[in-house]
Amino acid sequence: MGNEKMKRIAVLTSGGDSPGMNAAIRSVVRCAIYKRLAVYGVMRGYEGLIDDDIMPLNARSVSNILAKGGTILKTARSKRFLKKAERKKAAESLRKRGIEGLVVIGGNGSFRGADIFTKETGIKTIGIAGTIDNDICGSDFTIGANTAVGTALDAIDKIRDTVTSMERIYVVEVMGRHEPFIATRVALAGGAEDVIFPGNRFNIKKMCDDIRAGREKGKVSWIIVVSEGSAKADDVADKIKSETGYSVRPVVLGHIQRGGSPSAFDRVLASSLGAESVEAMLREKKSGMVGVVGGEYNFVDFKTACKKDMKKKRLDKAFYKLTKILAI
Ligand code: F6P
Repeated sequence: MGNEKMKRIAVLTSGGDSPGMNAAIRSVVRCAIYKRLAVYGVMRGYEGLIDDDIMPLNARSVSNILAKGGTILKTARSKRFLKKAERKKAAESLRKRGIEGLVVIGGNGSFRGADIFTKETGIKTIGIAGTIDNDICGSDFTIGANTAVGTALDAIDKIRDTVTSMERIYVVEVMGRHEPFIATRVALAGGAEDVIFPGNRFNIKKMCDDIRAGREKGKVSWIIVVSEGSAKADDVADKIKSETGYSVRPVVLGHIQRGGSPSAFDRVLASSLGAESVEAMLREKKSGMVGVVGGEYNFVDFKTACKKDMKKKRLDKAFYKLTKILAI
């Protein structure tokens, strides 16, 4: 038995934005209305909850946002929400409007916040994983990761044009915090010669030996993808340059990976998880996150969602090996 009597819910986006968050908001709002729930939007994540920056939303409030990057509700990494007294204020903002449930679209920091908030206040929270990092356990994919790989790949393809023409080595740093999802996918899809990522030891001397041996065999250009959680593009480029004497350029792709219109994959994921979050709000007894595993909906508690997903790590290593094989 869930909570069929629930009448009002709210939705917020929290942490780093990701493409597809708007599609998820739209789905939460419209599916809630379909289920006869009143729905409210909270501005700037937990910050807006503390500051009482909350407004009612209707079906038209989310018109024409499906294809837009960013989040219409804005987002923040709230330091204040780490404090119990501020969380108490946040709960009061919901209670005074009779809001009994909160959908949190964000990453693991936001889920840790939701977990403690529910434990302290009894207000139900349902999470939807929205982050480009794909670092959430209990969902094969997080909203925005697919689009971010596409954005980084577009850049790598362009870099490939200049790297080939100039016969250089480019070291391209991608985002992903401590998760190598973007790095390993973009390296494989972009035909990179090597990829450096957390959890996989790399040896700069061996890499330089490979580069020299490759040059002798007639290979003239290199793209090395670096995941931001493992090394800095500048440092790797400096080391390769001093070791080999070749022309090397570092490129940091940075926040462009967080923007842009969400891919079809991310729009489908966001729309379906938005709908499932409303179902879970009414169906599940406890708080937790909705995700997709093996093509089916999945529900896990927030603690599990914040764990490391070992299956994902095995795939990272397999993709790394394949990238190296295909770069011979
Ligand atoms: O978590 C998403 C992410 O883009 C990470 O990949 C990156 O390390 C971090 O956020 C950057 O955070 P900020 O936007 O606060 O600089």
